[in-house]
Amino acid sequence: MVRRALITGGNSGIGYATAELLVARDYEVTISGRNPQRVAEAAERLGAKALVADVASVEQLNGLAEPFLKEGLDVLVNSAGMGQVIPIGQYTEEGFAEHINVNLRGPLFLIQALLPALQARRGVVVSVSTVAAETGGPSFVQYAAAKAGLNAMSRCLSMELAPLGVRTNVVSPGPVETPIFAKLGVPEEQVDGVRAGMLERSPLGRLGQPEDVARAILAQIENPNVTGAVWQIDGGFRWA
Ligand SMILES: NC(=O)c1ccc[n+]([C@@H]2O[C@H](COP(=O)([O-])OP(=O)(O)OC[C@H]3O[C@@H](n4cnc5c(N)ncnc54)[C@H](OP(=O)(O)O)[C@@H]3O)[C@@H](O)[C@H]2O)c1
Repeated sequence: MVRRALITGGNSGIGYATAELLVARDYEVTISGRNPQRVAEAAERLGAKALVADVASVEQLNGLAEPFLKEGLDVLVNSAGMGQVIPIGQYTEEGFAEHINVNLRGPLFLIQALLPALQARRGVVVSVSTVAAETGGPSFVQYAAAKAGLNAMSRCLSMELAPLGVRTNVVSPGPVETPIFAKLGVPEEQVDGVRAGMLERSPLGRLGQPEDVARAILAQIENPNVTGAVWQIDGGFRWA
């Protein structure tokens, strides 16, 4: 029987690397993202299907879930996410809502919409959080708090959904070399400095690679005895 996987944010970074691993394992992979061209191009490179949905919109997430309600779904990976480095004096209601909606509300309502499809296949959900959810990070309140909510959501659901045969897990990366560095809201000329600062705080002397995280996601998918887990894939990274 064909195994199906849906990966949000699958056009880039950790989501893309996870899609590559699952395609190589003969999953029928669908990637989703908010930019139709970027998603279509990535899907073609991967040999995957493409769907467009902004995870900040519950309405669009319900549409994203629709095709799987008939077919069933074995794997959902919530990789779409965003985070900005913003000092407390500069918060806005809109910016705060965006962090929560993309990183927490979206994954929760997507799981809700997909639950019959996941239950039909005794499926597994892996959500991509961040080490900052546990350690904190300077000027990272909105991101870290939203992802800490994601961790709590996944742990709660692991208990609620276990009787239905559905597992929910989290991977928490430290800094990983992906396009996200350029999306942190810091001026372009400071991005290299941010990356260098993170490398300095990485005891293994390397930044994470998307494949490092994808391999942990695959292990959570394939191990039937792992649920409610939050795995740090961070190379020992700490802010201080
Ligand atoms: N890289 C790191 O250092 C790091 C560390 C800890 C945790 N993480 C987490 O890892 C996950 C993947 O990030 P990444 O590093 O792989 O970064 P990335 O390469 O920028 O990938 C993020 C993906 O999420 C998509 N996305 C963002 N907002 C979205 C929205 N509103 N609706 C739909 N898709 C949206 C992006 O789409 P676009 O291409 O349209 O932007 C992109 O496909 C995120 O949840 C992030 O918080 C990353």
